Amino acid sequence: MGNGSNNVEATMPASPYTTVLIERDEGIAWVTLNRPEKRNAMSPTMNREMLDVLEELEVDDSVGVVVLTGAGESFTAGMDLKEYFRETDQASAPEKMRIRRAAGEWQWRKLRHYPKPTIAMVNGWCFGGGFTPLIACDLAVAADEATFGLSEINWGIIPAGNVTRAVAEVMHHKAALYYIMTGEPFGGQIAVQTGLVTESVPREKLRARTRELAKVLLGKNPTVLRQAKNAFKRIGVMDWDLAEDYLGAKAEQTAAQDPEKGRTKGMTQFLDEKSIRPGLQAYRRDA
Ligand code: COA
Repeated sequence: MGNGSNNVEATMPASPYTTVLIERDEGIAWVTLNRPEKRNAMSPTMNREMLDVLEELEVDDSVGVVVLTGAGESFTAGMDLKEYFRETDQASAPEKMRIRRAAGEWQWRKLRHYPKPTIAMVNGWCFGGGFTPLIACDLAVAADEATFGLSEINWGIIPAGNVTRAVAEVMHHKAALYYIMTGEPFGGQIAVQTGLVTESVPREKLRARTRELAKVLLGKNPTVLRQAKNAFKRIGVMDWDLAEDYLGAKAEQTAAQDPEKGRTKGMTQFLDEKSIRPGLQAYRRDA
């Protein structure tokens, strides 16, 4: 290669991450768990790095949607059986708590209520602990050829971390128990039927379909998207009266916070200009 490309590389800041790759592309951040030789098993290092990655991207104005995927033939083979489990067996209780907290911090606390839309793109193996970030993402597109498994029963543990809680959130009851109790692997199409992922497509179409979905989300009002998805994720534990009150307050907060005043624009375009039909098309954000 000529000097030009070397100069470009020389001016790019080195990534501080050893287990995660980030590519920014037209408003989408493609975040790749990157230990393909270990099937992207989630080690304590990866867990700390992913927390930093999510914190970096949430305040990066060039990023509107985050896609989580894995390098090579895996999404993730779950928690690292060596580095996360065996090597920490002898650690002190506070040290174990610190290591477990880092895992939960990104896999569900941060990701579940992330301020930007998130899509899990499940390209291959997805086992055990991998279900937690998958379910914490807003949407999930799988490859038909991906292999999912709640494999914990096969090696003498229950799906802990917060895997069982996450599974109870999205998978149909009897399907969840079947896969928890048998450990049987399943593919992308079954993952759709059980409620685990949004859709499944042939592997060669996976990235294009995920990009298409991300582009749809990039076209929406980001303030309203953030409030809508987080409200949905929070109201499940509320009774109807509380949910109604909470949603009313959130709706007012959304209108007050929205810099592009989507509610006003939408009403003007429908009621006064008669230029849109909101049941069928979005208001013009640039108007
Ligand atoms: N933790 C730690 N290391 C893992 C791992 C995990 N969860 N999953 C895979 N690896 C490592 C293997 O130990 C092996 O390392 P080595 O090359 O140093 O021996 C490497 O990744 C490749 O694994 P291998 O089993 O040879 O790959 P495969 O392509 O034949 O099979 C899987 C892939 C994912 C089916 C298989 O590795 C597997 O069953 N992993 C465990 C999945 C699981 O039960 N996860 C739940 C954890 S909560």
